[in-house]
Amino acid sequence: MNIITFDSQQELDSYAAQLFLNQIETKPDSVLGLATGSTPIGIYDKMIELHEQNNISFASAVSFNLDEYVGLLPSNDQSYAYYMEKHLFSRIDIRKEHTHLPDGTAVDLEAECARYDAMLEAQPVDIQLLGLGHNGHIGFNEPDAGLSGGTHAVELKSETREANARFFSSMDKVPRYAITMGVGSILKAGAIVLVVRGADKAAIVKEALTGPITTSVPASLLQTHARLTVLLDREAGRMLDLK
Ligand code: F6R
Repeated sequence: MNIITFDSQQELDSYAAQLFLNQIETKPDSVLGLATGSTPIGIYDKMIELHEQNNISFASAVSFNLDEYVGLLPSNDQSYAYYMEKHLFSRIDIRKEHTHLPDGTAVDLEAECARYDAMLEAQPVDIQLLGLGHNGHIGFNEPDAGLSGGTHAVELKSETREANARFFSSMDKVPRYAITMGVGSILKAGAIVLVVRGADKAAIVKEALTGPITTSVPASLLQTHARLTVLLDREAGRMLDLK
């Protein structure tokens, strides 16, 4: 595992964005694994800047998002489909038909999960971007006695709904269920870039990266990945014993 800490948000965002742009430059038809939440917003802004400045095209690239809320249409401004359109897809030249998110409005969620897994199987992710939940979740893989390998529907923990309530007008508007890629699928990515900011995540960063590998801290399973890069701001990394 390669852990890098940064003094400023700009430096972290630039570094993370550059990893993805390098990937596209080396392999234009790369498959990108993408995330939502607050963590990637600056990274997407930087990717757009680099794409424009250096004429690096996303036209052949493919993307898969980690997760989506159950019950929200892509036109709902709280859906992850809406978020991706707003923060990235509408501002680069990626083809709409090359971008994938689980369909949280599918009538048959099980069939939707199988469809998503089949697409991931056919187009394995080259580089996966991840944020980290306060409870150690990655995607919406919540701490549990066991974890699912593939894409599945999940009931969100109350702490996750509370953490995400800031994006909704009230707590009861926060969806209770989501579809998420499983930890098994996440670990199949060729490379993983985990990005974490803020003092409030310092303890979970330490637990995930240096604690025992356990399903009660889903991110701890990332320790088993051969190409894991962890990008932290000083605050998120402050409990780690870094040289
Ligand atoms: C988002 C996702 C989540 C977030 C995590 C951190 O697609 O899968 O695991 O990465 O909840 O969220 P933020 O970045 O908002 O702190």
